[in-house]
Amino acid sequence: MPALPSPAARDLAALVRERAGADPVRLGLVLGSGLGHIAEQVEGPAIPYTELPGFPHAGVSGHNPRLHVGLWEGARIAVLGGRSHFYESGNPAAMRLPLELLAALGARAVLLTNAAGSLRPDMPTGSVMLLSDHINLAGTNPLIGEATDDRFVPLTDAHDPGLRARLRDAAAAEGVHLHEGVYAWWSGPSFETPAEIRMIRTLGADAVGMSTVPEVILARFLGLRVAALSAVTNMAAGLSSEAISHEHTKATAPLAAAKIERVLRRALRDGL
Ligand code: HPA
Repeated sequence: MPALPSPAARDLAALVRERAGADPVRLGLVLGSGLGHIAEQVEGPAIPYTELPGFPHAGVSGHNPRLHVGLWEGARIAVLGGRSHFYESGNPAAMRLPLELLAALGARAVLLTNAAGSLRPDMPTGSVMLLSDHINLAGTNPLIGEATDDRFVPLTDAHDPGLRARLRDAAAAEGVHLHEGVYAWWSGPSFETPAEIRMIRTLGADAVGMSTVPEVILARFLGLRVAALSAVTNMAAGLSSEAISHEHTKATAPLAAAKIERVLRRALRDGL
């Protein structure tokens, strides 16, 4: 049995419905670094996280910490314009209440986006990668402390094959080259060393980042179908002479963000 949205999430959903209307949303969307502009295109109210009691602080520059609820490409969706990362608070479950809220608003699926470093020479800066699977290297889990047997969430096919097929089709229809691969989550906020990148390459990682994995686990716990897209903002440490920095991430994210936007628009138009 998936966990039900908590009373806190149900209260928040009532608050959001007062502002944004009672119709259920079809899908939740979580925007990563440099992708926040997508939220501005949703036709509907934007509610700052500061007006949503219990919401985490999402204070990383390049994020837009507002919940947008409304129509995009004819689909009623809820968009989290910014996420809270594990490294901001030390709490791997920081995104639990926002995801519970998406479920309480009616979402049955959630799409996650992030900025990531690439480990593959054929997947340069500006590429988009659909996550086929992930590796949790952060040494923690958002379900630690959860008291019920619901915590034993299976993660085989955690990255939903049906959603992935829809995203693949949408990318093909848009002429966007969609890479697929394994995303490794390390806590950050420091970037990796070249030795760590060599290590995770041998472990099967194709991209590396500081988010998304706890959200995938939480989404599955809540019974939400989930898929995730990475915007490749740099080659991972040691793989190019390109400098790695948060400024660089923000500067290069728009290259892939434009492609992600086209894929998402098409997928929604085609009924995702
Ligand atoms: N490492 C970790 N997180 C990232 C990177 C990276 O190289 N690029 C963007 N987010």
